[in-house]
Amino acid sequence: MAQFLTLHEMIKQAQQNLDQGAWDYLIGGSDSESTVRRNRAGVDSWVFKPRILNDVSVVDIATTLLDVPLRMPVVLPPIGSVQEFEEGGGASVAAAANEFGVLQILSSVCTPRFDVLAKMVPGPRIYQLYLLGDEAWMDDIIAQCIACGYTGFCLTADTQTYSRRERDILKRYVPLSGRQAGSGDFIAQAKMTWDTVAHIKEKFDIPLIVKGVGVADDARRCIDAGVDVVYVSNHGGRQLDHARACIDALPEVVAAVDGRAPVVVDGGFMRGADVVKALCLGATAVGLGRFEALAMAAGGKDALLAALSILEHEIKTTMALAGVCSLSQLSPELVYRAEPLASPSLFSAFPLLDEGY
Ligand SMILES: Cc1cc2nc3c(=O)[nH]c(=O)nc-3n(C[C@H](O)[C@H](O)[C@H](O)COP(=O)(O)O)c2cc1C
Repeated sequence: MAQFLTLHEMIKQAQQNLDQGAWDYLIGGSDSESTVRRNRAGVDSWVFKPRILNDVSVVDIATTLLDVPLRMPVVLPPIGSVQEFEEGGGASVAAAANEFGVLQILSSVCTPRFDVLAKMVPGPRIYQLYLLGDEAWMDDIIAQCIACGYTGFCLTADTQTYSRRERDILKRYVPLSGRQAGSGDFIAQAKMTWDTVAHIKEKFDIPLIVKGVGVADDARRCIDAGVDVVYVSNHGGRQLDHARACIDALPEVVAAVDGRAPVVVDGGFMRGADVVKALCLGATAVGLGRFEALAMAAGGKDALLAALSILEHEIKTTMALAGVCSLSQLSPELVYRAEPLASPSLFSAFPLLDEGY
């Protein structure tokens, strides 16, 4: 694989490598795909108010999440069927995350399985589960997950039923994860309640992340239930259509959490500047789902490592140009809201794609 120097090249390479079915599964959202566009509109609506003449010769972006050192405040969100983009699947992501120094959240609907992966690539790592069985089934998986040394357990709460993704339906396309036994059965997932969260917290000694939080009240309920990480997400616009942008939900969630737990956010973040905006608004770390999937499609582990290096460079450059040299200096004071310049779309962070680059 030719080494790319820009994320534009990474995206172009990903598109070249995937057939139309896999490409549409990767980029698509539900129904009208308005949540996908709204995520991006939200990110595009925040602009910087830079400071000047601060010493920014050294920009330090190292941090921790659940006591895991992160080279930068970035997590790699769970991507089901990631093996569809590159055959190594979750293992390639794990290897890149481990080598680079960011945290992977492994999807329960990709290969290799979490227990197999635990023997292949050292952690730390978080496991995300969709409930495909009853409470005893879930308890067994969590116990195995702890035995395998996982650092945290992530419950995805924005997918209590599977959405209608018309790009896939129109082509009669079923991702690999949808072809797994039991994957179409959303009954246990639909029955999840706050009791499920209370049960996990009561029974197991593993940090719990609830992914899919969208409002202050649910964030407060997470904190009351002892949830260890509050994860603001709308599944990258792949679940509820016409949902608000995650970056727009972030400030009220951060205020409700009030420093009692880390807040992770994803949805529409594609570049270093995007990540810095979320950090200014109070996120502890930012997830980049399609970024991860596109990098995998562009060339597996090596491409993901290259993409993470570019992202790190972009984060540091953005911070230096905004006049800050440490994460603690990022605050809402550095950003304000303005009209986006162009009609936002999934790839609006990459205008040169339209010019044929
Ligand atoms: C191809 C694809 C597969 C996904 N699979 C899962 C999954 O298995 N579990 C989950 O919790 N979220 C899943 N997500 C959602 C991501 O974890 C993340 O929330 C989302 O991609 C963030 O939005 P972004 O793509 O705009 O960064 C998936 C997203 C994509 C693009």
